[in-house]
Amino acid sequence: MSDDPLPPPPSTPAPGRATARTAAVIPAAGRGVRLGPGAPKALRALGGTPMLIHAIRAMAASRAVSLVVVVAPPDGAAEVRTLLDSHALPERTDFLVVPGGGSRQESVRLGLEALPPGYDIVLVHDAARPLVPVDTVDAVIEAVRDGAVAVVPALPLADTVKQVEPAGAPGEPERVVATPDRSLLRAVQTPQGFDRATLVRAHETVTDDVTDDASMVEQLGPTVVTVPGHEEAFKVTRPLDLVLAEAVLARRRLNDGF
Ligand code: CTP
Ligand code: MG
Repeated sequence: MSDDPLPPPPSTPAPGRATARTAAVIPAAGRGVRLGPGAPKALRALGGTPMLIHAIRAMAASRAVSLVVVVAPPDGAAEVRTLLDSHALPERTDFLVVPGGGSRQESVRLGLEALPPGYDIVLVHDAARPLVPVDTVDAVIEAVRDGAVAVVPALPLADTVKQVEPAGAPGEPERVVATPDRSLLRAVQTPQGFDRATLVRAHETVTDDVTDDASMVEQLGPTVVTVPGHEEAFKVTRPLDLVLAEAVLARRRLNDGF
């Protein structure tokens, strides 16, 4: 009475993300204007090693991640390939390097376009967050495997946040219009984890300027969820962040020595 195909026999494993392979896309094509003059941010050294290599190692440290796609500065793909060849990286992980674009959003899209078939979970991780612990990476992957289509690591805010009417000129006083309830706000980090098809659709559909990938999925409609972030997953943005990153590395070296 129905044309529906027969259901699969009970021994057939349910298709889904529980067993899906995971790839990480690392946008690393930014200049790092706020960090001040110098090489592109991802190529600057932290503890003597380029920030990008730290970020790649952080993704490859997760046993679930079998491919890392690095989105290099538009004119720096060859340099990044050389960098990967000259640093020790896990052998069980594959690496691809593609040139990036003029915005983070475009760089991520170019990374997604280079992604081969067979990876149904995708992490997007800023090269500028070189010190994210592997437990945070694994928690994001776990949540996608458990069925979420978009997952962001998030932390409560330390500062009270004000909404303002932006001033005409920099440094001018701005009128405060509201103080959102801080207990309802979160600062979000990367890696953000996605069902691949959902993320690709978001990048095809949303054209507004955004600063993270999860907000594109939000605009599309599907539910985005958080997992606990980590203070060491902070983004290196301004010069003081480099001081903090060096201190975190020094503390790790000290702890590893015991
Ligand atoms: N990014 C990218 N392509 C761009 C711009 C940014 O791949 N056209 C990447 C950066 O390399 C970084 C991440 O997106 O890893 C987060 O961006 P951000 O911290 O803003 O880095 P930059 O854009 O390099 O810094 P700034 O905004 O200070 O210039
Ligand atoms: Mg930027």
